[in-house]
Amino acid sequence: MSEYPHLIRLSADYRIKPFDCGNADLNEFLFKDAVEHAKQLLAMTYLFENEDCTKAYFSVLNDSVRRLDADSLNFFKKKLLHDIPHKKRSYHSYPAVKIGRFAVHRDFHNKRIGRKMMNHIKRFFLDSNKAGCRFITIDSYSDSVGFYLKNGFDFLSEKDKTDDTRLMYFDLKTIIQG
Ligand SMILES: CC(C)(COP(=O)(O)OP(=O)(O)OC[C@H]1O[C@@H](n2cnc3c(N)ncnc32)[C@H](O)[C@@H]1OP(=O)(O)O)[C@@H](O)C(=O)NCCC(=O)NCCS
Repeated sequence: MSEYPHLIRLSADYRIKPFDCGNADLNEFLFKDAVEHAKQLLAMTYLFENEDCTKAYFSVLNDSVRRLDADSLNFFKKKLLHDIPHKKRSYHSYPAVKIGRFAVHRDFHNKRIGRKMMNHIKRFFLDSNKAGCRFITIDSYSDSVGFYLKNGFDFLSEKDKTDDTRLMYFDLKTIIQG
C-alpha cells in the first residue's frame, strides 16, 4: 500500500463491499446510515477497499472547538492558546473537522491501516481543504483512546473521564511549518 490509501467517496448508488470491524454500531452505520448522511450533507463517508471487501472506512463532518471547552481544561489552555497569536485567543470557537466514524475491518486490525487512514485525514484537511480547519476532533470509544493517543490526539475535556466516550482533538498546526 502506498503511503496514503486510495479512498472512494461513498455515493448513493455505490455497492459497499462486505465489512465487519467487530462493532455492530459502526458496521450498521456503514450499511444503513452512511448514504443518507451523505445525501443530507450531514457526514461524508470514505471507503478503503480491496477486490473482496471494505478494508476500512471513516466519515467526517464540520465541527468547531469552542473556547468554552478550552477554558475548562488547563492543559489545552496552556498548550493551544499559547500557540495561537494573542489577538486570536479570544475567538469564541476555532474551526475543526470531526471524525464521526472510523473503523478498520477486523481481519486487518493492527496492520497500520488505521494509522495510514488517519495520516490521510490529516493531510486531506491541510492540503485539500477549501476552508480554514485547525483541529480534528473525535468522540473516541474508551477502548480506542490508546489508538488516538498514538496518533497525536489529546483530551479536550476532563469532564468525560469516566464516560464511555472521550472527546479528543488533534492540532493540525503541529504538522506544518511556521
Ligand atoms: C481502533 C482501530 C481503528 C485501530 O485501527 P488499526 O488499523 O487496527 O490500528 P493500527 O494498526 O494503525 O495501530 C496504530 C497504533 O495504535 C495501536 N492501537 C491500535 N488499536 C488500539 C487500541 N484499541 N488501543 C490502544 N492502541 C491501539 C497499535 O498497537 C499501533 O501502535 P504502534 O504504532 O505503537 O505499533 C481498529 O482497531 C478498529 O476499527 N476497531 C473497531 C472499531 C473502533 O473501535 N473504532 C474506533 C471508534 S472511536
